[in-house]
Amino acid sequence: MINLDKVAVTTSRDREHQINTAKDISKEIGIQYIPREKMSLDSIKTKYNLSHLIIVREDKIVVDENYFFHPGMAIPRIKMLKKGEPDPMVQAMDINEGDRILDCTLGMASDAIVAGFAAGSMGKVTGIESSPIIYVITKWGLAGYQEGSKDAQKVMRNIAVINAYYEEYLQKLPENSYDIVYFDPMFEKPLIRSNGIQGLRAFANYAQINKKIIELALKVAKKRVVIKDWKHGRLFDQLSVDNIIGGKYSSIKYGFIKK
Ligand SMILES: C[S@@+](CC[C@H](N)C(=O)[O-])C[C@H]1O[C@@H](n2cnc3c(N)ncnc32)[C@H](O)[C@@H]1O
Repeated sequence: MINLDKVAVTTSRDREHQINTAKDISKEIGIQYIPREKMSLDSIKTKYNLSHLIIVREDKIVVDENYFFHPGMAIPRIKMLKKGEPDPMVQAMDINEGDRILDCTLGMASDAIVAGFAAGSMGKVTGIESSPIIYVITKWGLAGYQEGSKDAQKVMRNIAVINAYYEEYLQKLPENSYDIVYFDPMFEKPLIRSNGIQGLRAFANYAQINKKIIELALKVAKKRVVIKDWKHGRLFDQLSVDNIIGGKYSSIKYGFIKK
């Protein structure tokens, strides 16, 4: 786990709106705000003995100059859905217009964005992320990302982002308060080597799901619980999941438990 005493937030320039965002982030996850005052990033890190530095730039928020928000494959997946092509995750979730979806492992929110698009404007997506740094990057990224179609951007702005451990958060939720509960745990070996995902890996929670978590999720889900695993993963055997969707040539598969 990252020691937040060794993480701070600064700005690329001493501009008021950047400073305000940096101060908001500082309060939100309890890290120090360091005024930039023309210091180099290296000298800030050395002077304050930091392991990581979050920088509020004009266009985006970056950690250590190499980890920032990117919606990954969400935009091309939405394009495919618009053309009427199937998306295995959407199929496994069996999403209908207006569905309420709880993504317990938000990460970069790529899956959450696709799920939000499939659930339409009456749908609702909430994403839980336990890592404070990933939470900050994804929350502010979803709020400000300017690329992609207008409807993809609208979905991004509507995702509610929560900094919590799903095992604790699920316990507080009433029965049937979401239609679908989704898990995409970290794989030990990376499947995709993109800068964004590589950045996330340093800060992610690698805890694995167990049957107790699935029971909790089944209480919260009105329709089904869906889990992602990689094609050679043993998660579905361990969790006794029999319904599996995944193309023969795909590196990932989705398991689901209907209620
Ligand atoms: C593989 S990534 C999810 C990627 C995501 N589906 C996407 O499309 O970008 C898993 C994420 O879940 C988070 N996570 C793992 N265990 C968690 C827990 N117990 N509570 C909340 N978040 C957790 C990790 O920190 C990581 O960011």
